[in-house]
Amino acid sequence: MLKIARRAQNAFATAKSSNQESLNGLRMLQICGKQYACDDWTNLPSSILIKAQRPIKLHNSLDHPLQVVKKRIQNALISSDTCSKYAIRDELDPVVSAVQNFDQLLVPTDHVSRSKSDTYYVNEKYLLRTHTSAHQSELISECIMSGSYDGFLAAADVYRRDEIDSVHYPVFHQMEGVRLFKSVQDVTRALQCIQNVDLETASCNQVENPRQSVHDPKFQHMVSVHLKATMESVMKSIFQNPNLQFRWIDTYFPFTSPSYELEILWHGKWIEVLGCGVVRDEIIKNVASPHQIQINDYNNGIGWAFGIGLERIAMILFNIPDIRLFWTDDERFHSQFKGIDNRNIQFNPYSKYPPVYKDVSFWTNAQFHENDFAELVREYADDLVENVTLIDSFTHPKSGRESRCYRVLYRSMERNLLNTEIDKIQEQVVKNLKDVLNLDIR
Ligand code: DAH
Repeated sequence: MLKIARRAQNAFATAKSSNQESLNGLRMLQICGKQYACDDWTNLPSSILIKAQRPIKLHNSLDHPLQVVKKRIQNALISSDTCSKYAIRDELDPVVSAVQNFDQLLVPTDHVSRSKSDTYYVNEKYLLRTHTSAHQSELISECIMSGSYDGFLAAADVYRRDEIDSVHYPVFHQMEGVRLFKSVQDVTRALQCIQNVDLETASCNQVENPRQSVHDPKFQHMVSVHLKATMESVMKSIFQNPNLQFRWIDTYFPFTSPSYELEILWHGKWIEVLGCGVVRDEIIKNVASPHQIQINDYNNGIGWAFGIGLERIAMILFNIPDIRLFWTDDERFHSQFKGIDNRNIQFNPYSKYPPVYKDVSFWTNAQFHENDFAELVREYADDLVENVTLIDSFTHPKSGRESRCYRVLYRSMERNLLNTEIDKIQEQVVKNLKDVLNLDIR
């Protein structure tokens, strides 16, 4: 792992941007105008650093499908919930503290999302947010302090070390929404503004997905009803289908209880579109303490929250087959979304170039994590890698060692690849599997 951090540091040392400086022998990283000291946790490759500092993020680029989806969600929420006032935020700095990303959200200390194999750390204390929920506490606080907003809607880029395939990319976009209610009267009023509310929809599995005991059961039930009715209305509006069919699934998130996932029926299949729930009372109470006067209004308050992946919605809505397309500069992609407003166009794929496959087999070791391998491939192939698949694995009967064979599929979305250029990339990948990840190639 330490080696991975060193490799990553080497990677940004060679980056074209001058993000790295040395101060009294400490390696320093400059991100979005702020300086951070590197340490053993630092695992930020230059390609990610460049994306984190794009002057205009994809969700803020005019007519980009992610911006189109963001606007639709904003408009759908505002028009379906006319009694609530949401603060709109979409320029939040991607570097947050581990406290914001995990602790304030009550994420358990041993949760896998905190590990270096899943998250991009700037250093031990700071990281690239892994979800927009990282801003919940600060934005709830702003809402309460303002006295004029009932909630917020925040869109941002989020970062995760992950596998490589057509729906996973280390940078993607989410939208977070929170609505706070001070009292039963408050939620009663808000419910009157929503049409076709079904009070039965907010049942939950009291054993595995319980209501919070600090909450008044009736008030809490009404908040869940408001949440579910609002989410269904937003989805009907985005998909422009008043008959869209839904399925609510009980689930677990550290920051909500009860927690739900919403699925929609799409071309005969149930697909998940968002996660949501009733905000854990501790989160609101912890926010509250520095602002005692304003928070008094929320002493017995209850809030709901939701998170939506923008790529996921855009891929379903416009039939976009590969997540890398969101990052292309190709006009054949962007011209299809110019001025689409509320039209639900279907993306017309332009010619697909042929793939180049390369296999690699190696003996794993105790430190091996698939995400480290994926990152290595990305480091050399960038967007030329389409997916990495485990095609074979076995354990040697005598030595007990595990062998894995991965197939890397390289394909450009813009041109034909030359076998010789891919050979060079694959050579670098294999060399680093040996030298950096300490794996024995077979
Ligand atoms: N943060 C979650 C994720 O990235 C999504 C989410 C789920 C956000 C439930 C919420 C929520 O606000 O209440 O998977």
